[in-house]
Amino acid sequence: MTRDEDRSRIKIAVQKSGRLTDHSLDLLARCGLKYTKGRDQLICYGENLPIDVLLVRDDDVPGLVRDDVCDLGIVGMNVIEERRLDFAAAGDDAPFTHVRDLDFGHCRLCLAVPEQMDWNGAGDLAGRRIATSYPHIVADYLARHGLDAEVVEFSGAVEIAPRLGKADVICDLVSTGGTLRANHLREVETVLESVAALIQTPKPVSAAKAEWIERLKQRIEGVIQVSESKYIMLHAPRSALAAITRLLPGSEAPTVMPLEGRDDKVAIHAVCRENVFWETLEDLKRAGASSMLVLPVEKMMY
Ligand code: PRP
Ligand code: ZN
Repeated sequence: MTRDEDRSRIKIAVQKSGRLTDHSLDLLARCGLKYTKGRDQLICYGENLPIDVLLVRDDDVPGLVRDDVCDLGIVGMNVIEERRLDFAAAGDDAPFTHVRDLDFGHCRLCLAVPEQMDWNGAGDLAGRRIATSYPHIVADYLARHGLDAEVVEFSGAVEIAPRLGKADVICDLVSTGGTLRANHLREVETVLESVAALIQTPKPVSAAKAEWIERLKQRIEGVIQVSESKYIMLHAPRSALAAITRLLPGSEAPTVMPLEGRDDKVAIHAVCRENVFWETLEDLKRAGASSMLVLPVEKMMY
């Protein structure tokens, strides 16, 4: 049996090349996965864990998870929502399970119009032609707003549709806004806020697979918590202990230790489950804290 035929291994679908690729592979690496790329560059075989990564077009990720070709997938909510509406229209209401949002791939699906065009709100869409690669999301938006407009489906390069005379308005993904600016388009409405997410097949899996899926999900949880967490150490006057503890962002029970030869001061160590900003350190200093150190957290498990 070759490795890719082995049904006991977990397969994760990830975008092959695009805005989510590096972040997705980095997330899996931080979960402890080491892999070698197959010769076709389409599969990364896990070396140390029974987990393989399939590199595919982002639009294909939801379908691969629904059809149980892959157990898990990482893809943007924009694609997840478009495919979900598509499957629902075909009678499949639970094609995959949304496990959790991830902490990358933030962008938005927006309506944009030529710079010189007037815009007074969503009502202006009535009777217009809207070019998009997200026909289901746009149709859903129009239905929710009780509007009648024509949806013109484009598979790519939506931003040139108005110039080609194929549409009046576009609905496309915006991240930096660079593409819109370069094409003299103006963002007017947000249709969907998007972020990368983890999805899972709703089909039952073997006990061995289920265990690895759970472990991976827990590691992903840990990786995300860690990236938002800091370890803080500082000295504080005993008298200011309560005030200083209150200022520590997102920390539960700090460790308080005596300082050798000092009865008036203690050392405080705490895990902060939020980022510690300069402003927080300045507030802590004003409350009497000194010798403050903020360290990154490497791993975390609860
Ligand atoms: C999106 C979108 C724009 C661009 C916008 O395409 O279609 O072309 O990104 O980004 P910007 O605001 O930073 O300029 P994407 O690269 O995601 O490709 P895909 O939708 O075809 O997968
Ligand atoms: Zn795509």
